[in-house]
Amino acid sequence: MEINVLKNYEELSSTVADIVEQQLKEHPLSKLVLPTGSTPLGMYKELVSRELDWSHVITFNLDVYLMNIDHPESYQSYMRKNLFDKTNIYPDHSHFPFRPTSVFEDKMDGSMGIDLCILGIGSNGHIAFNEPGSSFLSRTRVVDLSEQTIQDNSRFFGSVDDTPKQAITMGLGTIMESKKIVLMANGVNKLNILNVAMNGEVTESVPASILQNHDNVEVYYCD
Ligand code: F6R
Repeated sequence: MEINVLKNYEELSSTVADIVEQQLKEHPLSKLVLPTGSTPLGMYKELVSRELDWSHVITFNLDVYLMNIDHPESYQSYMRKNLFDKTNIYPDHSHFPFRPTSVFEDKMDGSMGIDLCILGIGSNGHIAFNEPGSSFLSRTRVVDLSEQTIQDNSRFFGSVDDTPKQAITMGLGTIMESKKIVLMANGVNKLNILNVAMNGEVTESVPASILQNHDNVEVYYCD
């Protein structure tokens, strides 16, 4: 699979923001799946600065930690701070995975109706919080985070002890039903896993490798 290598983080952010902007302009009623984490922060900043019309858009987040949703590092807080509070999206148009997860999937209408799904990638090849070994058929569910992911995410929480150990994540099967998928990755520490996922064996040991089986995926990377 082709990995589009961009000059720098600004170009990565604006390129993916361009894709979202085009989607919203061509299809104001779009359903989007959105990521959190450090990689998409520049994309959200770019999108906010463009003052797009989000009034008919429906969003679903890929995952949430199992934690107090009012905590500043919850993904609900992240989305409010970086996108929702700065656009005209209706609060009841933005959804986060919840239990019972089957009801969340019903709300998404499976995920067949998702027009555009933006993904990041974990240093262990996870997408959303589908850790290595996740079934390619998996649906939204509660998961234990891997040691690697807890370690990686502890930078947001100050210590491993304070970092959430569980999450609710969309499944790989759920994500794959999106009509279009864009994966963004930033930093040399992601380059090796990105190459393995995009050009190596398609295996449940490398969750992102499932994207090789999707016919409308674009991958953008900068170091
Ligand atoms: C978060 C998510 C995760 C992150 C991944 C990379 O919603 O889906 O898969 O995309 O952990 O995180 P960063 O961008 O912080 O390196």
